[in-house]
Amino acid sequence: MGEVDPRLYGSFIEHLGRAVYGGIYEPGHPSADEQGFRTDVLELIKSLNVPIVRYPGGNFVSGFNWEDSVGPVEQRKKRLELAWRTIEPNAFGLNEFMDWCRKANTTAMMAVNLGTRGPHEARELVEYANHPSGTYLSDLRIQHGYKEPHNIKTWCLGNEMDGPWQMGGKTAVEYGRIAAESAKMMKWVDPTIELVACGSSGTFMPTYPEWEATVLDLAYEQVEYISLHRYYQNHKRDSATFLARSLDMDDFIKTVIAVCDYIKAKKRSKKNIYLSFDEWNVWYHSNEADKQIEPWQVAPPQLEDVYNHEDALVVGCMLISLLKRADRVKMACLAQLVNVIAPIMTENGGRAWKQTIYYPYLHASVFGRGTVLVPLVHSPKYDCSEYTDVPYVEAVAVHNEEAGEVTVFAVNRHLSETLSFDVDLRSFGAASLIEHLVMDSDDPYAVNTADQPDRVKPRRSEGTVARGEASSFAAQLPKASWNVLRFKV
Ligand code: AHR
Repeated sequence: MGEVDPRLYGSFIEHLGRAVYGGIYEPGHPSADEQGFRTDVLELIKSLNVPIVRYPGGNFVSGFNWEDSVGPVEQRKKRLELAWRTIEPNAFGLNEFMDWCRKANTTAMMAVNLGTRGPHEARELVEYANHPSGTYLSDLRIQHGYKEPHNIKTWCLGNEMDGPWQMGGKTAVEYGRIAAESAKMMKWVDPTIELVACGSSGTFMPTYPEWEATVLDLAYEQVEYISLHRYYQNHKRDSATFLARSLDMDDFIKTVIAVCDYIKAKKRSKKNIYLSFDEWNVWYHSNEADKQIEPWQVAPPQLEDVYNHEDALVVGCMLISLLKRADRVKMACLAQLVNVIAPIMTENGGRAWKQTIYYPYLHASVFGRGTVLVPLVHSPKYDCSEYTDVPYVEAVAVHNEEAGEVTVFAVNRHLSETLSFDVDLRSFGAASLIEHLVMDSDDPYAVNTADQPDRVKPRRSEGTVARGEASSFAAQLPKASWNVLRFKV
């Protein structure tokens, strides 16, 4: 169906809450290296094999002066940060982030400020970051200790510009024009870069999907990607509906592809626009706590969702949705990576641990590389308060030709029943099971904490057996479970 672009398993670090300060960067922490980067956190991130990390926002980027974040640290300005009502000390900035990326074995997806700033500052940032030398800005980078250009390839043209909550929010026409002009000038500085235009902040936006059509009409030839953002909630504790939320994600992806192709046809263009689903996750647990946080602190504990087992299943379903359209979704960012709605949590000065959602993300990133096979899934279905005909089993398969492996990812949405799951790999000839990993729990609300970091984690299931001819397998998917079935082919 489609080659998986490794950047499908990207993530996101915003200057928000304790993502940077106390998350990836904490000078004085027992595990901090000479640059103040937490090596305990780096290790957890490296295991995830994250190919790209979006930075520095999010809503933060729409008020960000990149110049504040470079040069001698003691001279950097502390700023009021209006998106999240905090104080930004700028102790960690662009160059530190690039160093951190190298240590985390990842690359940067850099966002420019098209809220309070515009094309001029955007192209200056590209010049500072990517131009080799011989101009004021490139030489300034060298003076700051970075002789080699960073060569940042992927750039986001602003963030959620359709949102009234965004500093400098815009109408689709205002944004489409500014995105096109910024893109033009940024590419004049460095023609090798690729650009992501802002799509809608979610399907709930009143301007969706007209926003995408207008923006692409104005910037089609200047950009390569359009962004999608989506977070799901379960405030009502309606598990059947919550677990079906990825159906909305499927629709969202389908609609944005249709809009891209409509504009392609309208313009008689040969070029495809690809999708960058650069914010996706479950986000709701911390909503009330965030309202109690006093404004104007440095790195308060914002958006610190503690994820339960059920959230991990929704994240698993969302990963399957992304994989099913890997032919058009080329990049995606689990938002975010550390402490802020994140798979990894830390204590300031203390421990770091894996949340429940760490595991489906880990499995997809490690085993979900290759060519996506969209299987014919025969599953019983259910109705819930917001969806009808929801398949109990959500599944996708990925063929890694190089490794000679097929991995099937499957979620059983049934809340009370184990389901039999037959896998037929006959087109691969003989196959053998490597392992069946399963993540299930007696308590859908079980969470991992610093004291109990392993309460919810995957285990090996021993029940999966080959049937007769060795290309067909019978597995059991426990109620409300995430499953990874790995086969040698
Ligand atoms: O990821 C948290 C926030 O969600 C981002 O800053 C913003 O882009 C989105 O609304």
